[in-house]
Amino acid sequence: MTEQAFLEFHDGNRIPQLGLGVFKTGDDIAAPTIRKAIETGYRHIDTAAMYDNEKGVGEGVRTCGLPREEIFVTTKLWNDNQGRDKTLKAFDESFKRLGLDYIDLYLIHWPAPNRGLYVETWKTLIELKAEGRVRSIGVSNFCPEHLEKIIDETGVKPVINQVELHPLFQQKKLRETHAKHGILTECWSPLGRGELLDNPAIMGVAKKHDRTAAQVIIRWHLQNGLVVIPKSSNPERIEENFNVFDFILDDSDMRAIGGLDSALGRIGPDPMTATF
Ligand SMILES: NC(=O)c1ccc[n+]([C@@H]2O[C@H](COP(=O)([O-])OP(=O)(O)OC[C@H]3O[C@@H](n4cnc5c(N)ncnc54)[C@H](OP(=O)(O)O)[C@@H]3O)[C@@H](O)[C@H]2O)c1
Repeated sequence: MTEQAFLEFHDGNRIPQLGLGVFKTGDDIAAPTIRKAIETGYRHIDTAAMYDNEKGVGEGVRTCGLPREEIFVTTKLWNDNQGRDKTLKAFDESFKRLGLDYIDLYLIHWPAPNRGLYVETWKTLIELKAEGRVRSIGVSNFCPEHLEKIIDETGVKPVINQVELHPLFQQKKLRETHAKHGILTECWSPLGRGELLDNPAIMGVAKKHDRTAAQVIIRWHLQNGLVVIPKSSNPERIEENFNVFDFILDDSDMRAIGGLDSALGRIGPDPMTATF
């Protein structure tokens, strides 16, 4: 793999496999951060209404100097806006804040099963896609039972499920469900929020390739066919995290990192029990 790859959605659209996450990138620095990322080669930005930076993200995309079609933009519906009426309103607000002609991908941020609204919300995303301002629709933090329920009730499969996934928490069972339905897997906190960067096994592989731990982890995601969205708002690290298309992890490297998987490796909330 020597250049940025795209993965195909089952709806006919495609997504750049490596994107930039912007959780905790303040609205004030979002536009220059995105321009820096796009100048580096990124073509995919992952934001959310909850990140409170859609305005800056939209400005960065509009002022980056590339045609809109070359940049892939994801945003997400926050939990307290689930349900048809609130979802339609929240989508309008995200759309206005971003100030773009269309959104590439709109996700339900969490299933929030305690609210009992994720099926109705999914039906509303199906309406939004038909209306045309969003090109593809998907979900985030959905477990197999949430996926099966929305598919059973609507017959429409999400194109992607964005979930916590990194070497310490590899989500193998969930990935089997995705494979069964042709749903892509997208990984949040791919660097374990930075906590994985001094892991001895990863450092060993990094030393062997004369690369950084972050580059090795991102490479591991790419070679597993996963969509990966490391976050950085630091210009050097934005470049470092994109500089991953000129080396390959061999089978022993992949096995060493694959062996780090742990049932206790989750660092974020469990979607089955999260109540926000
Ligand atoms: N759907 C969801 O529920 C959900 C949840 C969480 C995150 N996400 C998405 O996933 C993206 C990534 O996840 P994340 O932000 O939680 O974690 P992450 O990408 O695993 O880690 C980000 C942290 O690592 C640091 N970092 C990045 N590159 C580095 C490098 N090369 N060397 C050293 N440190 C580095 C960053 O600091 P600097 O910025 O200072 O470089 C930041 O503190 C988010 O931005 C967001 O778009 C989605």
